Amino acid sequence: MKIDLRSDTITKPTPEMLEAIVQAEVGDDVYKEDPTTNALEEKIANLFGKDQALFFPSGSMANQAAIKLHTQPGEQLIADKYAHVYNYEGGGVSFNSGVSCKLIDGRRGMITAAQVEASINPPDFYHSPLTSLVCLENTTNKGGGACYDFDEIKKIRKVCDTHNLGFHLDGARLWNALVARGESTKQYGAQFDTISVCLSKGLGTPMGSVLIGDAKYMENAIRVRKVLGGGMRQVGYMAAAGIYAIENNIERLAEDHKKAKEIGKVLETLSFVTNVEPIDTNIVIFSTDKKEEEFITEMAKKDVHFYGMGQGKLRFVTHLDYTDEMHERLISILKGF
Ligand SMILES: Cc1ncc(COP(=O)(O)O)c(C=O)c1O
Repeated sequence: MKIDLRSDTITKPTPEMLEAIVQAEVGDDVYKEDPTTNALEEKIANLFGKDQALFFPSGSMANQAAIKLHTQPGEQLIADKYAHVYNYEGGGVSFNSGVSCKLIDGRRGMITAAQVEASINPPDFYHSPLTSLVCLENTTNKGGGACYDFDEIKKIRKVCDTHNLGFHLDGARLWNALVARGESTKQYGAQFDTISVCLSKGLGTPMGSVLIGDAKYMENAIRVRKVLGGGMRQVGYMAAAGIYAIENNIERLAEDHKKAKEIGKVLETLSFVTNVEPIDTNIVIFSTDKKEEEFITEMAKKDVHFYGMGQGKLRFVTHLDYTDEMHERLISILKGF
């Protein structure tokens, strides 16, 4: 039995999701004539209590568009040193928007209001880049699926208001945070100017992300998406998968979280595991006294697949296609080491 814990992006659509895809009514979304995409956008905008939402092919493109909407070339954004927008979007921040990043040495990919405040360049000091945007990530990917304390988010919002900064959330895995913390989409909509959410990670669709925001930012979003090459035609088939996922696959994320915690408990008992990071959601990051590659190869021989993250860290990600049967087998393989 193959057990693939490399990422929650490896899932394949279920028969029910495929049925929703096949049944979708579609049109040309570049002309905004795709009823299913329009319905998805309206549904998600309402869910977050925001003016508008726009469907994007990927989370990276949704984040990059948001950065473009908030900034001018030469300006600077503030983010944690682990931020996906900085580390894993191909340098898009500088390529697409001509913006630099002030990186904060946060905790598990999360930053505080005090750290943000201390990182803002004085706007009248024309030698340094003008700070114009703060980007948070929730849950954090490289930070091991960690969830923000919502009160800290509110404090950061206040700092943004005081200093006239845009506030963007990379919510690729926001669904996981909402389920883990019992929070609501509206709570998040009220704090951020723009939010990107992914449908193709924990929620299990083949592709797609949505950028949500206030009209004043979103007015230009469709133009920026076009510039980035993200205008799509009969994409209602994918939007239908998104609607299905929103209606059926959010609450079940709790199962992924439970399994991740159970894996963590077993890892803690293994003599060669030197550290297991706290597990808030579906990502398990741990270190061993073996060489990274050695453990990955040993496990691959047992058909268990996962990634190393550098600096001796290894990562398991639980997801929709990681079944109870696979979970039992993995636990027994780990215990057998
Ligand atoms: C936190 C975070 N943001 C954004 C993305 C980008 O999503 P995509 O792969 O759809 O571009 C990812 C992908 O893993 C992610 O983990």
